[in-house]
Amino acid sequence: MSFPDGFLWGGDISAAQIEGAWDEDGKSPTEVDYMVSVDRNSALRYGYYEMPDGTEGTMMLFSGQLPAGAKMIIKDGVNYSNHVASDFYHHWREDLALLAEMGFKALNLTISWARIFPTGVAGGVNQAGVEFYRNVLTECNRLGMEPIITLYKYDMPFFYISDWGGWSNRKLIDEFVEFSRVCMTEYQGLSHHWITFNELNILKLMERSNPDVDQAARQRLYEEAHNQMVAAARVVQLGHEIDHDNQVGCMIAGTFCYPLTPDPADVAAAQRYMRDTMFFYGDTQVRGAYPSYAKSLLASNGVTLEVSDEDAADLMAGKADFYAFSYYSSSCATTHADEGESGAGNMTQHGVKNPYVSATDWGWQIDPEGLKTALNMLSDRYPDTPLLIVENGIGAIDTLEDDGTIHDPYRIEYLRDHIAKMGEAVDEGVNLIGYTMWSCIDLISAGTGEMRKRYGFVYVDAADDGTPQGSFKRYRKDSFHWYKCVCESNGADLG
Ligand code: BG6
Repeated sequence: MSFPDGFLWGGDISAAQIEGAWDEDGKSPTEVDYMVSVDRNSALRYGYYEMPDGTEGTMMLFSGQLPAGAKMIIKDGVNYSNHVASDFYHHWREDLALLAEMGFKALNLTISWARIFPTGVAGGVNQAGVEFYRNVLTECNRLGMEPIITLYKYDMPFFYISDWGGWSNRKLIDEFVEFSRVCMTEYQGLSHHWITFNELNILKLMERSNPDVDQAARQRLYEEAHNQMVAAARVVQLGHEIDHDNQVGCMIAGTFCYPLTPDPADVAAAQRYMRDTMFFYGDTQVRGAYPSYAKSLLASNGVTLEVSDEDAADLMAGKADFYAFSYYSSSCATTHADEGESGAGNMTQHGVKNPYVSATDWGWQIDPEGLKTALNMLSDRYPDTPLLIVENGIGAIDTLEDDGTIHDPYRIEYLRDHIAKMGEAVDEGVNLIGYTMWSCIDLISAGTGEMRKRYGFVYVDAADDGTPQGSFKRYRKDSFHWYKCVCESNGADLG
């Protein structure tokens, strides 16, 4: 296996899931700050709102639906795990040192929009937020890690959702472009790798997870995705204007799907699923125009979309420089209602269980071979666009031993198998520029809000349910030492 020189070995963290300090130094609340922690048996996370008459209701994560007059509330005695999370806000220096000790060449991190513009552009820049990230990014540079900066990971100021109607409001395009302009100008030279939207297709995946979605919500979803893709294209152009060396990519949740049987109808179902949940978004951002099947896909969703000449021109002028994607598992599609047990998985997986692969404690199917297939498929589809794997990892229950060690052979096995397959894909000619593993430090699960579902190389001594209890001390897991060899040997030594 020969990974190219300069291959970006590293990991991922995300502001809302790791920082905590949810109301410190001028930051305003984001959607996730209102979301309670649930356990693995529950459906998605939700938050409480209050109506003017004092009655309460709940809003589901990512639904973006708040009844008129409703106001989100923080209730006493409820576990809001993102409020403290892993307390990276107060531990960032030691955390970055640990990542550098592993030999990280890159760190994919996100900037919380709500720290930079807590009350929107009209309210002005929050200098404390700007300085926080400047310090973090400068330290990354000092330690030899290229920051890959993700600008949007579901943590815009909440008033954009409650008062502005979220991404269906086109005014958000300008707000996001201005937020990006501030970040790209303030941090110019500290990074040359930017990602506009994390998993832009997540809206579609959440819709598929929510049985109550009506036609109006579905229509709105496509408008939101369109507005985000236009915003992304404008930020690609802006990134190039600010610094010619900037590479500005898109990021898509991988929803790779096999036909459950050789029945041609199952093959077609798998193709439809991937177009519907993944390719539609990546194709548009990489090729700069909606794909040929867009019309029929929109029609099958009962949706119409007006694309103005100006938007079409923006999409074309702001094609993504690289295609980043997350890969945790794969799924199967079938048209045979009586066949197959339904599979669990990331918000991204709604298919049928694959009898040939194993699964994590949370039921996510483990499929390293599928990563190689995915890389080859994307490389065939986007031959001129470099690929970047951001987010690949396993959520598991880890035990902190009395001597401060954590033995996580399951994580080493999962990552080793995936990296080996990734190496084979590179040897077959895939243009892959890096691999950042999710999540290099334990943090709050997006799906459940637990800490228990740990992904990191670095263990954080915080309560498993996400309540802010524990020493918040950091410990090296066995996988920490293993990944150090991987980074230092440029992927040659997988142990
Ligand atoms: C990805 C998200 O889709 O899945 C991450 O970008 C998330 O934010 C990850 O944490 C794993 O999902 P979960 O629900 O196990 O945290």
